[in-house]
Amino acid sequence: MENIEGKVVVITGASSGFGKITAEYLSERGASVVLGARSTDKIEAMAKKINNKGGKAIAVTTDVTKADQVKKLVDAAVKEFGKIDVLLNNAGIMPLSPLEYLKVEDWDQCIDINIKGVLYGIAAALPHMKEQKSGQIISVSSVAGHTISPGGAVYSASKYSVRVISEALRQEVKPYNIRTLVISPGAVNTGLPGSVTAEDVAENIKQYYTENAIPADSFARAVAFAISQPEDVDVNEILFRPTKQQL
Ligand SMILES: NC(=O)c1ccc[n+]([C@@H]2O[C@H](COP(=O)([O-])OP(=O)(O)OC[C@H]3O[C@@H](n4cnc5c(N)ncnc54)[C@H](OP(=O)(O)O)[C@@H]3O)[C@@H](O)[C@H]2O)c1
Repeated sequence: MENIEGKVVVITGASSGFGKITAEYLSERGASVVLGARSTDKIEAMAKKINNKGGKAIAVTTDVTKADQVKKLVDAAVKEFGKIDVLLNNAGIMPLSPLEYLKVEDWDQCIDINIKGVLYGIAAALPHMKEQKSGQIISVSSVAGHTISPGGAVYSASKYSVRVISEALRQEVKPYNIRTLVISPGAVNTGLPGSVTAEDVAENIKQYYTENAIPADSFARAVAFAISQPEDVDVNEILFRPTKQQL
């Protein structure tokens, strides 16, 4: 858990689940956290709580489907804290449904948030990190970015894409001393099942999560492990799942 104190960590999707718990976890270990999400009230309340406890946090309302808003989030981090050490590209939704349901709006949103959101994060952070000649870009894929099952076509496609983008980035940013990581969690207890809009699928997923999901601090610890490595160690992939999760 070394190397966390004093780091500036920008987190998208910070209002809930992984983003929220990771912001709290890292700020308790001395990181300055920059919270981005659409729910202004939630991230402002989080920032207030962290600052009241002696930590450092700011909140910037951010919709990751808007490149200019993601740039504003990252620029705010650099303006406030002088640098960006880590970008956690975390915002995402999981609107599972069979293709034959033709949930075209869900498909668009899933691609806009889960894929374009990650690209916009890279676009916002990369110029700063190149200049600094340091930084870590962490993007959240999923076990569903390694496996495919019925109902998961578009979500899995988005999470495979995150892995592809992150691996290309890894190879490209070597000259700038920038590190890249993809984290692929299995079923973890967050608000994510709430993003399933197909009623029958939502019921099954809720049931599955109730029976199998593990607590969200599992994710925060994985992020902390990667961040705390020395600068010459580039942890590129972490996949974890509940011990009882089969696929
Ligand atoms: N939990 C799991 O089992 C699991 C497993 C594998 C991968 N993941 C991935 O983990 C990531 C985090 O999800 P979670 O499990 O923590 O779910 P969650 O509790 O539902 O949190 C999702 C976060 O994403 C944000 N978000 C959604 N759309 C956004 C947008 N357009 N712009 C900015 N922020 C947006 C939400 O904030 P606002 O609504 O306030 O904007 C929220 O903070 C996702 O990428 C998800 O695919 C989760």
